Amino acid sequence: MRALVYESYGSPAEVLHVGEAPEPHAGPGQVRVRVRAAGVNPVDWKLMGGAMAGGAPLEDPVVPGFDAAGTVDEVGEGVTGVAVGDEVLGLGSGAQAELSVLWAWAPKPAEIDWSVAAAAPTAVETTERALRLVGVEPGQIVFVDGGAGGVGAVAVQMAVAQGLTVVASASEANQGYLRELGATPVVYGDGLVERVRAAAPGGVDVVYDVAGKTPVEDLLALAPQPGKVVSIANFTLPQHGGISTGGGQPGERRGPESMALAADLLRRNAVVIKVQTFPYERAAEAYATSTSGHVRGKLVLLP
Ligand SMILES: NC(=O)c1ccc[n+]([C@@H]2O[C@H](COP(=O)([O-])OP(=O)(O)OC[C@H]3O[C@@H](n4cnc5c(N)ncnc54)[C@H](OP(=O)(O)O)[C@@H]3O)[C@@H](O)[C@H]2O)c1
Repeated sequence: MRALVYESYGSPAEVLHVGEAPEPHAGPGQVRVRVRAAGVNPVDWKLMGGAMAGGAPLEDPVVPGFDAAGTVDEVGEGVTGVAVGDEVLGLGSGAQAELSVLWAWAPKPAEIDWSVAAAAPTAVETTERALRLVGVEPGQIVFVDGGAGGVGAVAVQMAVAQGLTVVASASEANQGYLRELGATPVVYGDGLVERVRAAAPGGVDVVYDVAGKTPVEDLLALAPQPGKVVSIANFTLPQHGGISTGGGQPGERRGPESMALAADLLRRNAVVIKVQTFPYERAAEAYATSTSGHVRGKLVLLP
């Protein structure tokens, strides 16, 4: 099948290309989809760079991507409630290809564009997990550090949908975008703590660090206690009494429930995702934007 693929570690510009890869098949509890759109996440190029491989060389070619929307064309053993031809969004592997295997999925709302459906899975699953682990209640104030990117823009809207008041950070250029999403915007960088305090004079109840760029002391200074800081991108928080989550702990991820939540939020327009789309042939441009670290909304690839 046709896919984006790399055979050795390196930057996307060096190693990623359109090529051929073996067709995957749905194992027990899985479905295979004919991909209509696939999301790009920073972890795609982090894995591609080899930094997460501990120095071991790459043995087999890799098709990147964890987020897909498409039409089911193979149903694995033991799977019920979904049939060949159903349109779904979900979490899987090798998403940036013609065919991808999903381990968690939900029906794609008919009125939602394929590219928007493919933009949601990781962002919604991650935020469902982070907010559950840190604990939030309606009426509380959350500070989302890094609110304009793939996860952040969804995090802001999910928090609003849960009845939270949101203060969020972004660059100067994205302050208006954060306001559109329902947050009180602040600019990140030096002086962030003072700006968040000015935006929420009574203090914030929870800090959700999406970007991993702000010093831990500043995140802790904003929270009522260390256990009310959760990060998805800074894994030193537990050393300070906070929470870091990569989704790798047993039972941490609620895949199917998160995908149902994603579909429901999209259908209700409670989460609206700004997407920039690129055909697979132009994946290099999407990856260059992702590696720049300044994404507004989500980058999505189209087969
Ligand atoms: N642990 C997990 O389960 C998990 C899951 C998903 C993602 N992640 C990680 O979470 C991070 C964000 O992912 P993403 O998909 O949202 O990335 P993204 O789409 O590339 O967005 C990055 C965002 O970070 C913002 N940013 C840049 N510098 C910042 C700073 N100093 N302070 C605050 N915000 C800043 C940017 O805002 P401007 O454009 O306004 O500069 C941009 O909107 C990545 O490191 C990713 O690997 C972890």
